[in-house]
Amino acid sequence: MARKSVVATTLIAVALIYAVFRYNIVRGVPWEQLPLYITNKGIALSAVLLIALSYVIGPLTRFSPKTFSPWLTTRKYFGLLGFGLAAIHGIISLLIFDPSYYPRFFGENGKLDFNGELSMLFGVISIIIFSVVSISSLNTIEKTIEKKEWLKIQRMGYLAFILVMLHVVFMGYRGWLQPQDWPGGLLPISLISFIFIVLTLLLRTIVIVFPNNSSPKH
Ligand code: HEM
Repeated sequence: MARKSVVATTLIAVALIYAVFRYNIVRGVPWEQLPLYITNKGIALSAVLLIALSYVIGPLTRFSPKTFSPWLTTRKYFGLLGFGLAAIHGIISLLIFDPSYYPRFFGENGKLDFNGELSMLFGVISIIIFSVVSISSLNTIEKTIEKKEWLKIQRMGYLAFILVMLHVVFMGYRGWLQPQDWPGGLLPISLISFIFIVLTLLLRTIVIVFPNNSSPKH
């Protein structure tokens, strides 16, 4: 198996195992909910990890060109895989979007509360932006767009990632503030995702603020 597939498979496996461990094993969520409800959490986390990976490879070549330059060509693979998983996550979420699955999003009137609505709005807009970015990275489409325009479209991915950050903040921040309720002391998946997104954006910002003109463009 190519190294990139090993990395991707490992990340997806770790995310799925974490979801099963935190929810089915420690919290005791019934195994009937594994195929969609729990798997969806692992899929969402792997989407974030893969998209984050595709965004940090460029900046990391600044710090260790020898180690990371060979990985530059894998960015598209990780990014597209991450987008595919995010799309599956969106579809599964909509299939089971119901107060019995997600009571924390709904108010007493059975409608989404303000945080729930905001969180879903950010999720939907981010997936739409990621679709545009992903379509533009397909080789046949990329060839038809001017390089400058293409880079502009690609950079919209950062905006989408910021929206994913808001998606998890509005759904999760109340739970993040109650570590005593975390099953087995294990961090919520929304918080882990938040941390990875912030670190990714931070790394990207450092590279923008301190440009190194001698390094390759990424
Ligand atoms: C149509 C767009 C989307 C919809 C309808 C949607 C819906 C949801 C729902 C209902 C949850 C709660 C899941 C749970 O607590 O079990 C959730 C959580 C999450 N979503 Fe999305 N989402 C969308 C887009 C995205 C995108 C594009 C990403 C990332 C690339 C993403 C990443 C996450 C993450 C990391 C969580 C936290 C999972 C957890 O805490 O267990 N979502 N989303």
